[in-house]
Amino acid sequence: MASLLIKEILATPPASQDVTVRGWVRTKRDLKNLVFVEVNDGSGFNGIQCTFDRGSAGSLGEELEAALGAVNTGSSVEIRGKLAPSPASGQAVEVAASDLSIIGDAPAESTGNIAAYPLQKKRHSLEFLREIAHLRARTNTFGAVTRVRSRLGFAVHQFFQERGFQYIQTPIITASDAEGAGAMFQVTTLDLEALAKSGKAPDYTKDFFGKRSYLTVSGQLEAETYATALTRVYTFGPTFRAENSNTTRHLAEFWMIEPEAAFAHLEDNMILAEDFLKYLFNAVLSDCAEDLAFFDAHVEKGIIDTLKSVINSKFTHMSYTDAMAELEKAGSNAAFEFKPYWGCDLQSEHEKFLTEKIVKGPVIVTDYPKEIKAFYMKMNDDNKTVRAMDVLVPRLGEIIGGSEREDNLDRLEKRIREMGMDTADYSWYLDLRRYGTAPHSGFGMGFERLVQYVTGMANIRDVIPYPRAVGQAEF
Ligand code: 4AD
Ligand code: MG
Repeated sequence: MASLLIKEILATPPASQDVTVRGWVRTKRDLKNLVFVEVNDGSGFNGIQCTFDRGSAGSLGEELEAALGAVNTGSSVEIRGKLAPSPASGQAVEVAASDLSIIGDAPAESTGNIAAYPLQKKRHSLEFLREIAHLRARTNTFGAVTRVRSRLGFAVHQFFQERGFQYIQTPIITASDAEGAGAMFQVTTLDLEALAKSGKAPDYTKDFFGKRSYLTVSGQLEAETYATALTRVYTFGPTFRAENSNTTRHLAEFWMIEPEAAFAHLEDNMILAEDFLKYLFNAVLSDCAEDLAFFDAHVEKGIIDTLKSVINSKFTHMSYTDAMAELEKAGSNAAFEFKPYWGCDLQSEHEKFLTEKIVKGPVIVTDYPKEIKAFYMKMNDDNKTVRAMDVLVPRLGEIIGGSEREDNLDRLEKRIREMGMDTADYSWYLDLRRYGTAPHSGFGMGFERLVQYVTGMANIRDVIPYPRAVGQAEF
């Protein structure tokens, strides 16, 4: 690259060398003899201050004065000057600027058919910014979210690659329902309007894939096929859920990380999940310090200390049965909307109560009733519970869900039938138990839930560039 990023310039000792700054103007202040232009290029949290000194002449010359006069918040600019120590607090260096070119205007007021730049220097609500999601990356908050998200994505690969996991890509279009839960988006090239007019039932043998197909809800089943060949694998890709849940923790399109390991039992899976989260928190604490300081000051007070304390703590383990006993005990005082009882699915309010009030930190809940978990989970000897694990954290509830898988052919076939599914649809999956079956375990972590946890952002729609949720597919 020919020019330096602002992040790189800021890290350079101020030895009066020539620099060129390119980016978008955040603020301009014109004070008698000095004009300050703060430029941000998103390479780091901080922008760089460029100072134009009118000196004793009281002017920078006609051309430069005109350019400076025309610069607005949001304009893209190129500024040239010399790097100098900064007298201002909070920054070591600034640019003693001698020249400025406007690359692209951003009008401060409506002109002709161009409306005023919507991100004028003031506080904007997150709701408003969601409506202009194509511009929100230019704000402090979304710049910081984006950098943290990027660092976390890299750390995911680092963590698994350092531990012998192979990165595999599982299909996005699939004919199988990995979770057996049915909240899938159908993929079709059939002409729906013509079908509706004809009044006939759709003939899926004429559809693109010759059968009904969907966007995947999880890459797990395919990951299992590779784990029972390469021992340790992971996926990291988009997944889709057509759940009609309009919450601050659900998206219709989200990214999921799914490790799967052969010869691993639930205990190994729990250790892997705990190590994974701690590794990710460490990565952002050491590499995204400025962004985290911003979240700590403006979004979620104490988030840095929380992350540090999680890193230094041992996760609590609790069986579903014990968790339910705790919830029932607290029940009368806790005013739950859904009364907890053994056999019920943990509601978000129950998860929060467990992790925030009872454990006061992350907790791994294990051994759930088989009825509320997916068909592929390994049955316990009690024949009532399965080797499931959910990692719950304060504020969010579930961040990770996983299990040891049923590796016994007969028991797996029985579960599939019991759940009203067709074993023929899962023939290839059952082959893993027919040929060289082995104990294996894995989990899934929603990438956006992770970013939410680390940044303290309240709404999951604010940690992915373009959120897709019920009734929302803009941009
Ligand atoms: O608990 P889930 O449904 O588990 C699975 O999909 C398994 N196949 C994972 C596995 O064992 N390989 O989803 C896993 C995680 C959840 O814990 C949550 O973090 C996230 O995915 N998640 C969502 N994130 C955002 N929006 C949604 N609608 C989500 N649904 C699940
Ligand atoms: Mg789950």
